[in-house]
Amino acid sequence: MGKTSSYRVPMVAGNWKMNTDREEALRLAKEIVQAVGSLYKTEIVLCPPYVWLGDVYQLVKSTRIKLGGQNIHWEDRGAFTGEISAQMLKAAGCKYVIIGHSERRRHFGETDEQVNRKIKKAVETGLSAIVCLGETLEERESGKTKEIIEKQFRESLAGIVDFDKIVIAYEPVWAIGTGRNATPEQAQDVHVLLRSLLKDTAKDAAEIRILYGGSVNSSNAGPLFAQNDIDGFLVGGASLKSTEFLAIINAVGT
Ligand code: PGA
Repeated sequence: MGKTSSYRVPMVAGNWKMNTDREEALRLAKEIVQAVGSLYKTEIVLCPPYVWLGDVYQLVKSTRIKLGGQNIHWEDRGAFTGEISAQMLKAAGCKYVIIGHSERRRHFGETDEQVNRKIKKAVETGLSAIVCLGETLEERESGKTKEIIEKQFRESLAGIVDFDKIVIAYEPVWAIGTGRNATPEQAQDVHVLLRSLLKDTAKDAAEIRILYGGSVNSSNAGPLFAQNDIDGFLVGGASLKSTEFLAIINAVGT
């Protein structure tokens, strides 16, 4: 079972990060809804800022486009000022949540252990987790990519047995927002490593989607997607322009 398996449906997810005002968010979502209609087999996920989730949900709810959050807390409720629970995202219409993005790890000190708790809570709540992993430039240049990816994988996914609701996103930190994407070969190498780690862990390893993220755009999406183990993309900057995001969806091509 491989890339054409009905389980590994290609995915393109747009991470809007802390961008878009309400008007921009609605315009962007509308343009994507209008352009994709019900034409594509590719799973499309939009991850707007929390405050626009409700508005975007109204636009996508009767389409094939899914909604995702950008983070959750691992507790269900309580005195955690500024945090959002998995249940809240689910109630807002989310099917997905991004967990362990490198910006959360770097700016907010998120650890693999916290990422692990968040993944467990997401899955328990019925959300699918897009779990982000990736090495820094320093780690890559000192030949530590494999070691770092293995450590992040094992610690973030410790105790997960059912991978049904897990999507992995390989996002080299040095490629995020820098305009410098990993080459298709560099990305494929890490995807192969992740696939082999999945094989040690999950009985359905060949069915689990592994996305690439980091400066994906309409020109590099095709060659990256041509790699055997790249099942789609987590897109930041290029997801903020509907034409560019749609071109990436087209490059995935189904
Ligand atoms: P980028 O971001 O596409 O702007 O590099 C990717 C991401 O952060 O998920």
